[in-house]
Amino acid sequence: MTHYVPVVPEEAPFNATQRAWLNGFFAGLMGGEVVEGGVAPVAVPVEAFPWHDPALTLDERLALAVDRPAPRRLMAAMAQLDCGQCGYLCQSYAEAIVAGTEKSLGKCVPGGKETSKALRSLLAEAPAAPAPAIKAEAAQPPGRLVAEATFRAAVPLNGEGSAKDTRHVVFDLAGTGLDYQVGDAFGLFVEVDPALVDATIAELGADPERIVELDGQRATLRETLTRRLDIARPGDNVVELLMKHAGDAAARAALGKILGGATDAPLADPDLLDLLRAFPSVRPDLDALLGALELLQPRLYSIASSPKAHPGEVHLTVGVVRYSRNSRDRQGVASTFLSGRIVPGAKLKAFVQPAHGFRLPADGNRPVVMIGPGTGIAPFRAFLEERRATNAKGRNWLFFGDQRAATDFIYRDEIEAFRADGTLSRLDLAFSRDQAEKIYVQDRMRAAGAELWAWIADGAHIYVCGDASRMARDVDAALQAVVAEHGGHDAAAAKAFVQRLAADKRYQRDIY
Ligand SMILES: Cc1cc2nc3c(=O)[nH]c(=O)nc-3n(C[C@H](O)[C@H](O)[C@H](O)COP(=O)(O)OP(=O)(O)OC[C@H]3O[C@@H](n4cnc5c(N)ncnc54)[C@H](O)[C@@H]3O)c2cc1C
Ligand SMILES: NC(=O)c1ccc[n+]([C@@H]2O[C@H](COP(=O)([O-])OP(=O)(O)OC[C@H]3O[C@@H](n4cnc5c(N)ncnc54)[C@H](OP(=O)(O)O)[C@@H]3O)[C@@H](O)[C@H]2O)c1
Repeated sequence: MTHYVPVVPEEAPFNATQRAWLNGFFAGLMGGEVVEGGVAPVAVPVEAFPWHDPALTLDERLALAVDRPAPRRLMAAMAQLDCGQCGYLCQSYAEAIVAGTEKSLGKCVPGGKETSKALRSLLAEAPAAPAPAIKAEAAQPPGRLVAEATFRAAVPLNGEGSAKDTRHVVFDLAGTGLDYQVGDAFGLFVEVDPALVDATIAELGADPERIVELDGQRATLRETLTRRLDIARPGDNVVELLMKHAGDAAARAALGKILGGATDAPLADPDLLDLLRAFPSVRPDLDALLGALELLQPRLYSIASSPKAHPGEVHLTVGVVRYSRNSRDRQGVASTFLSGRIVPGAKLKAFVQPAHGFRLPADGNRPVVMIGPGTGIAPFRAFLEERRATNAKGRNWLFFGDQRAATDFIYRDEIEAFRADGTLSRLDLAFSRDQAEKIYVQDRMRAAGAELWAWIADGAHIYVCGDASRMARDVDAALQAVVAEHGGHDAAAAKAFVQRLAADKRYQRDIY
């Protein structure tokens, strides 16, 4: 692949001298030559990042980067979503760590502990430059507007008796200056459950009203643990700090197993409260503990509304995370905040995260295929609203599924209305638990393979949204199988065909 030295366009807000200087600067940077009217185009190789695919496993990604320099190996450890939650993209986060300007290894929320562990072991082989002393605040990409959106509602979408709790969440953007396009995500700065904060402070034996200072900002301990620090996901720094303060060898060994993720570790993925309760004799200095905790990162949600259908509002589809771990009920920080603790009318710091390649075709006549089980439906509600509002003539095909039709056919009325008014040309549903055998969206894709291939041959754009780790890989495999069987390709050619669709931006994914 080649690309060309950028030339500052005539319409850019620079005078002739500034433009000449900038053109020369870019030429010098990229090896081009300044000629009259601009910079002579030179072909410079663009580095390929074969690991930059969120559907690959961590091991697969690391293997693809094994011969690359340290910043690229670190990049391969990130979740590859370029989601911006950490304040960087995967590449720039890795580069900042290697340069020593970013010392936190725990900022990749979608990559979680797996990523932070891989980063740590990669850095053990190739240490980063010395880190600055200050905890870098969740860095804001330049130009990102953070404003206070007003929470309106979190309406339950699942029926009585469902195993799931999915919410339709509405925020009012009036007066915020925030605006968005369908395909974008919405970022929210949320709060940790006060019950968890209070239990953690009690376990520390600290005064919740004590004033603490974090990077020059003074607030009570309770406030700091509620809004600024992540007590739900203590990183390795916290476990190491506890090891340093463990008086007895048994506690040190047990903490060592937790740090290494050993299968016989006494706790799996502990939060801070788990650690404090399991090791009551280990109590580091409070300031050191606060210094070791990661900053609480914002959470992202795919936008489920079109601004044309809901001016001044943004809608989200939030799956509430609740599970049991280490004999305690655990709750997702953001999803339980949005579904239970925030009250209508409250304001929350928020931003719009523009999509990196998840956009409807500019040509409204193009057919569109949307594959979005579970919360993956979110951007497709927005797409369908947009296609209806713009009177786009292209056909729309939705694959949706979840556990049970009776309780989990979320947005059923709206989807049926899209079908009835012709916005939705075809709807294929896969309810996984309504029969003995699991049926998933990719089974429906294979069953409709001939027609799906015909849509692709007609120039359809294909979109996938939802779970990255299992669903998106299986859907990718099904798409390749459909291309192979109905397009008359062997497996390698079908894979290349699908890669080409992606390169042409006709196969786009918003997966997490
Ligand atoms: C670009 C993008 C778009 C997204 N869009 C959406 C969306 O439209 N809707 C949506 O709901 N989410 C979406 N997400 C995910 C969302 O950002 C949050 O990660 C999600 O809501 C969980 O956040 P939380 O704070 O509630 O949970 P956290 O406190 O972050 O806890 C989540 C962690 O809990 C653990 N966990 C979760 N379930 C279990 C379990 N059953 N057993 C054991 N451990 C478990 C896992 O380690 C998981 O990483 C998106 C993410 C990205 C990056
Ligand atoms: N352990 C966890 O960390 C955990 C658990 C649940 C969800 N999540 C995450 O939470 C997010 C949102 O979940 P969600 O509510 O949107 O839905 P989801 O849990 O992804 O489930 C939606 C539907 O997808 C089905 N499904 C499961 N595996 C699949 C596969 N390999 N291919 C295709 N479909 C598959 C589910 O079936 P079945 O459930 O019947 O198999 C269900 O019918 C996702 O990122 C998901 O990874 C995490």
